[in-house]
Amino acid sequence: MSDTGSIQRHLSENGISRRAFLKLCTVMASALALSPEEVAGFAERLGQSRRPSVIWLSFQECTGCTESLTRSHAPRIEELIFDFISLDYHHTLQAASGIAAESAREEAIKLNYGNYLLVVDGSIPLAMDGACSTIAGRTNLDILQECAEGAAAIIAIGTCATFGGLPGANPNPTGAVGVDNLMQQDLIAKRKLVNISGCPPLPTAISSVLAHFLAFDRFPKLDALLRPIAFYGNTVHERCARYHFYQQEKFAESFDDEGARKGWCLYKLGCKGPTTHNACAIYKWNKGTSFPVEAGHGCIGCSEPGFWDNGSFYASLDSIVLAEVDGRQADARAGLSIEDGKQIYDSNCVYCHAADPTTLETAPDAVANVLRSGNIRAHRRLDFAENQIDALEKYLKSLK
Ligand code: SF4
Ligand code: SF4
Ligand code: F3S
Repeated sequence: MSDTGSIQRHLSENGISRRAFLKLCTVMASALALSPEEVAGFAERLGQSRRPSVIWLSFQECTGCTESLTRSHAPRIEELIFDFISLDYHHTLQAASGIAAESAREEAIKLNYGNYLLVVDGSIPLAMDGACSTIAGRTNLDILQECAEGAAAIIAIGTCATFGGLPGANPNPTGAVGVDNLMQQDLIAKRKLVNISGCPPLPTAISSVLAHFLAFDRFPKLDALLRPIAFYGNTVHERCARYHFYQQEKFAESFDDEGARKGWCLYKLGCKGPTTHNACAIYKWNKGTSFPVEAGHGCIGCSEPGFWDNGSFYASLDSIVLAEVDGRQADARAGLSIEDGKQIYDSNCVYCHAADPTTLETAPDAVANVLRSGNIRAHRRLDFAENQIDALEKYLKSLK
């Protein structure tokens, strides 16, 4: 049942001191990279905000996303986050089942119409009239349509709910799609939406985004794929502890060679870290113990759309060709526009650099020179034509 008392009151009633709360806020403010003005009011606003009702729907999923959230660690952000919300319906965590569970959802919708937060994990099947996944005789789409209608905002959790994920992998027999896709097709109500991708996503990202919404009534700044820039603005590669080996061109050639034992870079073993945006190298899992690359396996790109179909997990990025710009063949003689330059940036550069090019520290002509020189390994596979580099430079200059 919903409890809409203030978060601060709820925390103190449950024995959580103001000091512990402020410590928690400091951690989340830092994770969210809040501006100094936002940091100043964050704890106060979060403490005074009402505990919102949250309805959590799970569709075509493996429970990994919920596992990721519940198996979190000190400073127990994700444990505490349950004190920030009133989790009125969760397929996996709720004790109720059958008619009682469905009634709990209906009741929460009725009581909090227009104000509750809707969390979705798992993809939604559209093939065969949605028959591939049903709950209490209703298709996933039907339930999502009902719940999205009265939601204040929607948080899509995990790569299944954001981009279709594993169920959406080729040949996608169930016609699986993510929440954003359904909004684009006008199949569900358009609501504020944030995508927290990853398979599974980082619990710190989930809880911090939730806290930001409670404090400011909006999501933090998002990238083009609606992911919070604070967590997805950089690549795994940029924050990887093996990065210095990459720069020294020291690569493991097999999983049991001397290089692998010495912790060398996994690029040649198929690591997709250079094209994958996520903060797992910082926050990690299991009490901050490790993440895939630290454990000795290359990143498989789990927070990016279509990662199951983007070439073999063990094929080097050098052998994988990124999509052509807008499907056109590069014509080195044709003049390309600033808009073409933007598209080149958005389709290629963002995989390793800032989503917002105005924050690049390298000048536009220097960017063009680096691309022409072919001196940086990650750029070699892009093989830009001269006019594409010109268009990119023009675009970057137009932003200054
Ligand atoms: Fe499971 Fe990954 Fe899908 Fe989450 S995103 S439900 S962990 S397959
Ligand atoms: Fe780390 Fe992979 Fe980048 Fe190598 S290629 S530095 S292993 S993220
Ligand atoms: Fe996923 Fe790659 Fe991180 S596989 S967990 S984004 S290292």
